[in-house]
Amino acid sequence: METDILTNIKIEKSETSKLPKNGVNNLKFGSSFTDHMFICTYKNGKWQDAKITPYQPLSLDPSTRVFHYGQAIFEGMKAYKDANNDIFLFRPDKNQERLNKSAVRMQMPELPKELFFDGLTTLLQIEKDWIPTAEGNSLYIRPFMIASGHGIYAAPSDEYIFMIICSPSGKYYAKDVNVVIAEHYSRAANGGVGAAKAAGNYGAQFYPTQQAIKKGFNQIIWTDSTHTYLEEAGTMNVFFRINDTLLTAPTSERILDGVTRKSIITLAKDMGISVEERRVSVEELKEAAKNGSLKEIFGAGTAAVITRIVKFSYKNEEFALPKVESSYADMFKKHLTDIQYNRSADKFNWRFKIL
Ligand code: COI
Repeated sequence: METDILTNIKIEKSETSKLPKNGVNNLKFGSSFTDHMFICTYKNGKWQDAKITPYQPLSLDPSTRVFHYGQAIFEGMKAYKDANNDIFLFRPDKNQERLNKSAVRMQMPELPKELFFDGLTTLLQIEKDWIPTAEGNSLYIRPFMIASGHGIYAAPSDEYIFMIICSPSGKYYAKDVNVVIAEHYSRAANGGVGAAKAAGNYGAQFYPTQQAIKKGFNQIIWTDSTHTYLEEAGTMNVFFRINDTLLTAPTSERILDGVTRKSIITLAKDMGISVEERRVSVEELKEAAKNGSLKEIFGAGTAAVITRIVKFSYKNEEFALPKVESSYADMFKKHLTDIQYNRSADKFNWRFKIL
């Protein structure tokens, strides 16, 4: 793919800063944004016009294709600051690769790797003071691409915008989570876009999730189209611990290939924990909950890190999970965050130093 920009990013700095006087720790997840953003456009078959500008609204024609046909994809990443104010990303190559896989599935142009990394690292160097330091806080990074061409003929756009915005964020979930197992709705289908980080996958979750919230739960565990097998939890991949074996659904066209998911599997295997990437049925889960072999359920994702699921409901039956002594969720969370915040050795070379 042609590109005429690469390291040639124009930088227009903001004249004033919105950086709060009392710092950026413990802000509500994804609600405030830094002073600058990265933006570039795809036109005439080329990515071009890469720049960092003050964070600002976009002006888009009402016929802009993303509004009509939903060609929109995104990634979720985090920047972490250690005790020496050094700044790190966690496995950013995986996000870059997945962005392009999502682009292909949504008939959008792939973004050159150099452009992704140049935009990202330049932006983070400018926004370094916005990276929180308190435990559980980080700078959430949202790279995304939208169809920006005009016209409502149902066809892929010929123009696109790629942007990166950043949000200093506290925890995604402040508490453990209760879930409803889906009996009717599915997140994804074979042949569909479940493995892509397509915006519509998330929008389609809001209605069923709201129904679960009305019943007093926080999230849904999505099941396959026959509602037999467990797939993902809310916006996270989901893990089950039955006795001492860790189980999670295998990646497929329906399951997002999560960076946190694959890191947990690597860590678990490295520690000698038995891991099975296989389908887990609702019946198996209920049975394990009844006979006491179900020790833990947890969600895993960039935003939520590792979030314990302490109760599930299925067809009006409720199952509460007792608290375990040596929790896998707590252990993996500590291992992962120690690597992310540069508090431990990085055996697998997952840290990526920015500054
Ligand atoms: C992430 O974990 O980064 C996600 O993409 C979930 C998001 C919808 C908050």
